[in-house]
Amino acid sequence: MSYNLLKGKRGVIFGALDDKSIAWKIAERCVEEGAQITLTNAPVALRFGTLDALAEKLDAKIIQADATSSEDLDNLFRESMDVLGGQLDFVLHAIGMSVNVRKKKEYTDLNYDWMMKTFDVSAISFHRTMQSLWKLDAMNEWGSIVGLSYIAAQRVFPDYSEMAESKALLESFARSFGYHYGNRKKVRVNTISQSPTVTTAGSGIKGFDDFFNYADKMSPLGNASAEACAAYCVSLFSDLTQMVTMQNLFHDGGFSTMGMNPAVLHG
Ligand SMILES: NC(=O)c1ccc[n+]([C@@H]2O[C@H](COP(=O)([O-])OP(=O)(O)OC[C@H]3O[C@@H](n4cnc5c(N)ncnc54)[C@H](O)[C@@H]3O)[C@@H](O)[C@H]2O)c1
Repeated sequence: MSYNLLKGKRGVIFGALDDKSIAWKIAERCVEEGAQITLTNAPVALRFGTLDALAEKLDAKIIQADATSSEDLDNLFRESMDVLGGQLDFVLHAIGMSVNVRKKKEYTDLNYDWMMKTFDVSAISFHRTMQSLWKLDAMNEWGSIVGLSYIAAQRVFPDYSEMAESKALLESFARSFGYHYGNRKKVRVNTISQSPTVTTAGSGIKGFDDFFNYADKMSPLGNASAEACAAYCVSLFSDLTQMVTMQNLFHDGGFSTMGMNPAVLHG
């Protein structure tokens, strides 16, 4: 059901790779709520993913951009404003990739060049995105920027490896840039800390099934789905949450507040 919460709003959605991607569901929901969007991903993802199908379905233009390139990002936002007909009201950053995880390196034996690449792609790209938007003055007043995070930024989930530090950095960028953007343009910046979700990036983590099931049992509401994340994200892009900024918002069925749930011990 649509409430037209994003009627007349323009946005850019990063990170939809295939129909399991959280960003895929968010893009669908934003358009359903009346927004006009452009879709973007790295050139390599456009070759291997299925973004074309989503673009066709939503009548959205794809503009490729490697989020570690400021030049690509500047081009993305200039072209998006051109295509959509004005400044942007919302931007979703849904990007994550760890080279050490991909190469199955243990946390106590990490390769630092790969770690830098991980931070660049998964966290610094968030700052880079906001800096590009800032310099181009591409955001409308009272706009909303959201990044996707995970609770390993605060608590230890051993198999999440260096992605834990990436998420801690991502959340910190949301707070620090949120100060500047709030002051200058009333633009809010938040991160959503989402439950484990079955996607390409999620399933790449060792032991994913175990901590998916553990979180599902631990949370009184169970794990939040990608569709539920999309609905929450729409609320943050809408005018109903204009005073929420510089927050890391848990969207996890209650997981982050639980200490012990008998269902985990006896289930
Ligand atoms: N799946 C989970 O369990 C889970 C839980 C909490 C948070 N998150 C976060 O949600 C976000 C989206 O991930 P997902 O789970 O939907 O997986 P996904 O694999 O579908 O999405 C990750 C995206 O990052 C993109 N990407 C990688 N390198 C890039 C680059 N250089 N430039 C631009 N884009 C690049 C990929 O192409 C892909 O589209 C990530 O930030 C992830 O960490 C995921």
